[in-house]
Amino acid sequence: MINGDVIGPSNLNFKHVPVLLKECLESLQLKKNMVVVDATLGGAGHSREIVKQISGGTLIGLDRDTTALQYSAKILGESENVEIRLIKCNFCDIEDVLPGLGVEQVDAILADFGVSSYQIDTPERGFSYTQDAPLDMRMDTDATKTADTVVNGYPEGRLADLIWQYGEEHYARRIASAIVAARPIRSTGHLVDVIKKAVPAGYGKTGGHPAKRTFQAIRIEVNQELDSIQKFLDGAIKVLKPNGRLAVISFHSLEDRIVKQTFKRESTDCLCPPKIPQCICGHHASVKLLTKKPICPTIEEVHSNPRSASAKLRVVCKI
Ligand SMILES: C[S@@+](CC[C@H](N)C(=O)[O-])C[C@H]1O[C@@H](n2cnc3c(N)ncnc32)[C@H](O)[C@@H]1O
Repeated sequence: MINGDVIGPSNLNFKHVPVLLKECLESLQLKKNMVVVDATLGGAGHSREIVKQISGGTLIGLDRDTTALQYSAKILGESENVEIRLIKCNFCDIEDVLPGLGVEQVDAILADFGVSSYQIDTPERGFSYTQDAPLDMRMDTDATKTADTVVNGYPEGRLADLIWQYGEEHYARRIASAIVAARPIRSTGHLVDVIKKAVPAGYGKTGGHPAKRTFQAIRIEVNQELDSIQKFLDGAIKVLKPNGRLAVISFHSLEDRIVKQTFKRESTDCLCPPKIPQCICGHHASVKLLTKKPICPTIEEVHSNPRSASAKLRVVCKI
């Protein structure tokens, strides 16, 4: 049964292998009749297993990519005995979206950040540095800011800063300067050529493709990914029922840092500096940290799905 924003089924061949699937399901401790949010529905790789464990319950799937919602509507439409509600939104708005569905609190929330394999492997979406495509990189194709806006419109200093911060790219200034000199840049292939010429020959032989970090940085900027993650985590913790669980998969250090720091802060009672003898902050822990160290994929999983290699799963339980 599907309701909520009605999204038509689609016949797309949406390929995405869910990461840390068994570990996510175990961490969420799903039971019959639960209300569960999959905040990053994608191809419903996690959700199609979640629905099997919450008979009589509700799955709320969020994504800002219409194609993902269309594909998942088809996959999840066959679920019996579970109410499926698929909503196109930014997961950072979780706190506002749920009341709109008549839902105040939920039993479990899963988030699996980043882009899906379908998005990377669809050339016209412009996420990949291995195929020539328009400078797009939007997860939400209705959004106005594209990679073109950033690559051809941002001042050099701003471009260098974001390549440095979001890509942790050592040659950020050289790359930004080369981009500005080569404008207008008309495609991802053109951008890759400009980056390759800007960095020393042989760069990328050990650390991956020379354009990898710059593409990551532009993608994060286009989709405002890090701000969304912070707002999502704060909202998700608020909408969890007592004993409800939040499981989060991140794929790079910038994402993981936000998850790790937020979970640490929210699982700590007093945040006063150690030198202050008596608490003056009044902060109380709202969650219990269930993963002191992140859960990572097994060698077997990385072998069968190399895109899982950098995944880290962190889990908290609402107090
Ligand atoms: C890694 S994929 C999820 C794959 C899914 N778990 C599966 O196994 O099929 C991430 C998905 O989250 C979506 N997404 C990323 N950031 C988002 C945001 N801020 N709000 C809503 N959806 C987002 C992307 O569009 C993408 O479809």
